[in-house]
Amino acid sequence: MKKLRIGIIGCGRIAVLHFDAVANSDRAELVSCADIVVEKAQKYAEEYHINAYSDYSQMFAKEQLDAVHICLPHYLHTKVAIEAMEAGLDVLVEKPMDINMARAKEAVEASKALGRVYGVISQSRYTPSAMMVKEAVKSGKLGKILSVRSVVTWKRTDAYYDEDAWRGTWDMEGGGVVINQAIHSVDLVRWIVDSELESMDCAMHKRNHPTIEVEDVAEGMARFANGTLYHFWYTINYGRDEPIDIRMVCEKGTVLLEYNDAVIKYSDGTIEENHRDLKPTKGKDYWGNMHANQISNFYGACLGLEKLDIDGEEALKTHRVVCAMYDQGGLKPQSL
Ligand SMILES: NC(=O)c1ccc[n+]([C@@H]2O[C@H](COP(=O)([O-])OP(=O)(O)OC[C@H]3O[C@@H](n4cnc5c(N)ncnc54)[C@H](O)[C@@H]3O)[C@@H](O)[C@H]2O)c1
Repeated sequence: MKKLRIGIIGCGRIAVLHFDAVANSDRAELVSCADIVVEKAQKYAEEYHINAYSDYSQMFAKEQLDAVHICLPHYLHTKVAIEAMEAGLDVLVEKPMDINMARAKEAVEASKALGRVYGVISQSRYTPSAMMVKEAVKSGKLGKILSVRSVVTWKRTDAYYDEDAWRGTWDMEGGGVVINQAIHSVDLVRWIVDSELESMDCAMHKRNHPTIEVEDVAEGMARFANGTLYHFWYTINYGRDEPIDIRMVCEKGTVLLEYNDAVIKYSDGTIEENHRDLKPTKGKDYWGNMHANQISNFYGACLGLEKLDIDGEEALKTHRVVCAMYDQGGLKPQSL
């Protein structure tokens, strides 16, 4: 079978999982990587015996790649994705799509116009626990979802924001807890509820990080077109990273989804559970080991073997909810 020739752009924190996934894939071959801080690219290049670049456009020109993974700060996602697609490459970009709706749509339009595969990482959908809940809702066994409660209480210190200039800024990160950390929960809720957003009431606050521009708290309630109410509280001012916590009250039962753990209690007394420890082999525990599954699906789509699970249109559905929180939140400058 043909192996895809892969390049990775952005050799920072999350890149470790992408390198590991490509190196262990039987559908792809790791060829090169690029980082504007070339020493970061060189470190991976030495480890994986590949070529390092400081300029990704030189990498496009020289390496005859089939696809790239984009692991860059948020504001560069669309720009680099479009440049890669124009160079004839398929693209897998890290979440979020970009810092606003208009830019996110540009990449989706470009992928359609240029006929390129364009995937957006949302690895939390690949936990067995989340998949079990999605399946139960889809099968109709739980009836209508009446209410969802989604809580993220994580810890991001001033030092975390001081480490990289793009973090904590409106024009480069595009927001704080919602667009960077809670986006995984927003995506799970939107994907499981599977309905258009009807209305959003959100308040954003900067309560505990005097040096950043963006929100460290967001709370509110949204309504989906199917009538489901979505209550949320997201903060990075807590003492540690607690598991993502999503609860649901449905017509025929209740759901608790706590990252790797899911418990569904049906009104007739039956219980379905899933508890799987998904520690990744590299990187931080809470990143899980689901990247490899999503990356494999992306390669399957590039090779014409599988349908892409999370393409641009699918990712836009979640991005719309994220952007609605910012539109309503009262902190983000309207111009962005
Ligand atoms: N899916 C997840 O669970 C998860 C977890 C962490 C981060 N992420 C996402 O991954 C992306 C990267 O985050 P990170 O924490 O690795 O950030 P990071 O700052 O550690 O890494 C970004 C890298 O991009 C490089 N870079 C910046 N501008 C560049 C340019 N013009 N050309 C080439 N390289 C450039 C930087 O030097 C840096 O090495 C973000 O979108 C983030 O939201 C996703």
